[in-house]
Amino acid sequence: MNSPTILISGCSSGIGLCVAEGLAARGYRVFATARKAQDVARLQAKGLEALQLDLDDSASIQAAVDEVLARTGGRLDALFNNAGYGQPGAVEDLSRSALRAQFETNLFGMIELTNRVLPVMRRQGSGRIIINSSLLGYVALAFRGAYNASKFAIEGITDTLRLELHGSGVHVALVEPGPIKSRFRANAFSMYQRNIDAGQSFHRDTYHALERRLTKPGPVAPFTLGPEAVLEKVIHALESPRPKRRYYVTKPAYFFAYCKRLLPQAALDWILGAISDNEVK
Ligand SMILES: NC(=O)c1ccc[n+]([C@@H]2O[C@H](COP(=O)([O-])OP(=O)(O)OC[C@H]3O[C@@H](n4cnc5c(N)ncnc54)[C@H](OP(=O)(O)O)[C@@H]3O)[C@@H](O)[C@H]2O)c1
Repeated sequence: MNSPTILISGCSSGIGLCVAEGLAARGYRVFATARKAQDVARLQAKGLEALQLDLDDSASIQAAVDEVLARTGGRLDALFNNAGYGQPGAVEDLSRSALRAQFETNLFGMIELTNRVLPVMRRQGSGRIIINSSLLGYVALAFRGAYNASKFAIEGITDTLRLELHGSGVHVALVEPGPIKSRFRANAFSMYQRNIDAGQSFHRDTYHALERRLTKPGPVAPFTLGPEAVLEKVIHALESPRPKRRYYVTKPAYFFAYCKRLLPQAALDWILGAISDNEVK
């Protein structure tokens, strides 16, 4: 039997790289994508079938999907929508362009890629689409408004898509990680530097603490796990005859999912406010 095929976005580092390597080792034919040429070359040097794919560029999405389908004879078994970044900053400091950029990558590009792949899966009558959301897709923390909004939007559109795909043989699953070791904070710091004018902000003192947090080496959040914890859930979402709708990863992801269901909003706000305050002490 042919190896199952999967296309993964954002494989230059972190979760995407770990899942690409893990699935390749498990016998999958992995199309590992990254947006920068040097990262594509690095992935190829590791023995992965690597392609360029930038979620902010429709032509790049189309070219990557066309190339994958040309190589597989028109089949694709799975898509792992992993790529994304966090734009830090208080809501009142977010420019329209910074917010738009956050949605371009995390939501619009991800859906465009999904929509390029869906006709293939519908034709096959089978397929798995896995979307890397976050616990910040169902609870909010301060200074993460842009990221929160993009991940809440991912949750909503995925819930809709699941209903629309009912009976098609195509399954959609959300992965809801809490803190995972990756380059996420380093990349978030770059976006903070690019888009937030801390000196002009009401929150300027808080931003000093935020900068320390974003640049601190090693994990800063309790219960942080390695990206292998996500790989384990992705394997279940790919291989189980009854994949789950949501896969929680890390203790905080489970904890906040329960809190969201069980607690009144005021109590949840109290917990999330205390965590937010503690993060920028
Ligand atoms: N780490 C966590 O604690 C955590 C928790 C919950 C959810 N997540 C989610 O997990 C996913 C992966 O993040 P990570 O933790 O592995 O962080 P990461 O190490 O920063 O990896 C993010 C990946 O996304 C890529 N990317 C960013 N913008 C892109 C674009 N426009 N087109 C294509 N690729 C793009 C990055 O490429 P470049 O190297 O070119 O920037 C990188 O490969 C994200 O969706 C994130 O929201 C992470």
